[in-house]
Amino acid sequence: MKIEIPENIRAITPYPPGKPIEELEREYGISGSIKLASNENPFGPSPAAVEAMRESLDNVHRYPDGSCHYLNQALAEHLGVAAEQLVFGNGSNEIIEFLVKAFVKEGGEVITSHPSFLMYQKFVQIRGGRNHVVELREMHHDLDEIAALVSPATRLIFIDNPNNPTGTLLTRDRLNGFLAKLPDHLIVVLDEAYIDFVDRDQRYDTLSLLDERHGRCAVVLLRTFSKAYGLAGVRIGFGIMAAPVAACLHKVRQPFNINLIAQQGALAALSDHDFYELTLRKTAAGKRYLTEGVRRLGCAPFPSQTNFFLIDVHTDATALYEVMLKKGVIIRSMKAYGFDTFIRVNVGTDVENDRFLAALGEALRECGDG
Ligand SMILES: Cc1ncc(COP(=O)(O)O)c(C=O)c1O
Repeated sequence: MKIEIPENIRAITPYPPGKPIEELEREYGISGSIKLASNENPFGPSPAAVEAMRESLDNVHRYPDGSCHYLNQALAEHLGVAAEQLVFGNGSNEIIEFLVKAFVKEGGEVITSHPSFLMYQKFVQIRGGRNHVVELREMHHDLDEIAALVSPATRLIFIDNPNNPTGTLLTRDRLNGFLAKLPDHLIVVLDEAYIDFVDRDQRYDTLSLLDERHGRCAVVLLRTFSKAYGLAGVRIGFGIMAAPVAACLHKVRQPFNINLIAQQGALAALSDHDFYELTLRKTAAGKRYLTEGVRRLGCAPFPSQTNFFLIDVHTDATALYEVMLKKGVIIRSMKAYGFDTFIRVNVGTDVENDRFLAALGEALRECGDG
């Protein structure tokens, strides 16, 4: 093979997805495993969404509506924004890709944090842009350092709020102070994949940041149907932004990027308030239960505004991860992120939570003995 692999592609490390259950069971010859590693919704999908998706199967011989008209109208009304301010993606992942495609040329600069969602940096690498990566400070985005790195070449700043993997949320004042400092030639992308799980008393409105009349830099909000709406498997997310920014993203997307099943599922999930509320209630209860449980095992849970949280297990996280895998419990080791003794786990069903706690207790004993 003589093909030339460009240097920027050679340098990319593939995204490490949570280990699929099927693969784990094949490898270890076990069954009944659980996965708490990808921050999915363990309670979903919404029954109404399932019904709508089933019905849509009869029409999959047709291309889907490339404008997502009905979903667009319903979501715009739900959020109180104009339909022209929304762009849908094959997961919010795809909106990240569109932003980089549309606004970053070769050599264009992008600022991200570490650790945070890995895909921001990857899309920039693919595009041949330059990543500036700022370490979190005390588990939060270091906004002062990010602002200090801004240059005339900066095109995008990605901030996941709440952050993955720490689960921390910026306060409204910190965020507003940061945005007020920035020049207006760049776009700040606030990735709000987990915004639905934020405690009610900590929530604040970010839609008002899209108002162009305040004269600040442009802001794009990213949200998803993958988490609170339980539709990770059909891949649909969206961005909310000023209409001229949305018009640019439409230019770089494929005409039918959202499949029919996803459009119908998201539309139905959006109006299934019972399922949405049940997810939030059960997630909050599960987080309290797990927090107490891991404390009883001598571990230190880190408070989180999401459906997952970090746990300091006071032992090598990757060794513990391996032991847990063999017990059929898939979690994440945070060692590769620089947190050597931390694991990340998302809230599961009641049964899964108990399974996790039992396996963690055993694994801690085994790691301690080893
Ligand atoms: C912070 C963050 N942003 C975006 C995503 C991507 O979500 P989606 O399924 O909408 O592509 C994830 C997925 O885990 C995430 O953690």
